[in-house]
Amino acid sequence: MENVDGIVARALAEFSAAQDPASLENAKARYLGKSGELTAVLKSLRALDPEARRSAGQSINDAKSRLEAALDARRGALADAKLALRLAEESLDVTLPGRGRGRGGVHPVIRTWSRVEAIFRSIGFNVADGPEIESDWYNFTALNQPENHPARSMHDTFYVDLNDAQGTPLLLRTHTSPMQVRYARMHRPPLKVIAPGRTYRVDSDATHSPMFHQVEGLWIDEDVSFADLKGVYTDFLRRFFETEELEVRFRPSFFPFTEPSAEIDMRFESGPLEGRWLEISGSGQVHPSVVRNFGLDPERYIGFAFGSGLERLTMLRYGIDDLRLFFDGDLRFLRQFA
Ligand code: PHE
Repeated sequence: MENVDGIVARALAEFSAAQDPASLENAKARYLGKSGELTAVLKSLRALDPEARRSAGQSINDAKSRLEAALDARRGALADAKLALRLAEESLDVTLPGRGRGRGGVHPVIRTWSRVEAIFRSIGFNVADGPEIESDWYNFTALNQPENHPARSMHDTFYVDLNDAQGTPLLLRTHTSPMQVRYARMHRPPLKVIAPGRTYRVDSDATHSPMFHQVEGLWIDEDVSFADLKGVYTDFLRRFFETEELEVRFRPSFFPFTEPSAEIDMRFESGPLEGRWLEISGSGQVHPSVVRNFGLDPERYIGFAFGSGLERLTMLRYGIDDLRLFFDGDLRFLRQFA
């Protein structure tokens, strides 16, 4: 059966030469397919006598098994090669440095908030936090601003369609001053606290935003005076702006919850803003009626309060002239502080 051995040899050579499954299957068809060479030889056996047909059939079947085994092996080898190639192409170098995810930064106003807390803590002030949805009573009435008080119109705000448990209307607090009352009613004097947080007013332009931040300060004891306010606040400003070359003055003003009341102005003695008086905070001696609303006797307890805008402090510190930049979310602006 010279013929069959020759076919097997050629078939094996073609199988191992096939570089991909398609050419391998084509080679298979040429030898083992319906009109393949080995199939043709098998068909030709019909012409032989039974004896010869049996021995020839035997060797053709052996050849067929060999070819099928070779075919399987080659199929496996091609699949392995394909997998190996994929693994090589998709390999990960775990030693490469990461791409990172872009670090966020602390917002400039929040940076001011933290610095204000650190400075006041260092001189013995507590830090308190309170609700942004506040009752009309804490926001106005308890602060000596009963319903229809004209000063309320300067604090036009967003009212919430709900009343608190006592039936008082709720609103978004227009200042952090309600925290004076909340804190005082929960603690015993001496009261020495700041309360930073978000506040809201119906206001929107280059220097006003409907949401902004304030920090309230309150110091109540038996003998706290305006001189203490001036000392504490001047020290705070010098530390906040990191300069001793800074002057402070008090300008008479009015707030229903302080008497006397003052605007605190400051002036840098050097730098780009040198010599200009800048309004920085409302302040005053806490009004006796408010001390009474603290649950304290105004004959015995006295002290001061102030309320400063955190955006204003931040703008002066970094020389920012438009408050809206803080809330636009523009990364080109924000990244400068990261
Ligand atoms: N609450 C006042 C305001 O928002 C500021 C202030 C606080 C004034 C405390 C005096 C005392 O304008």
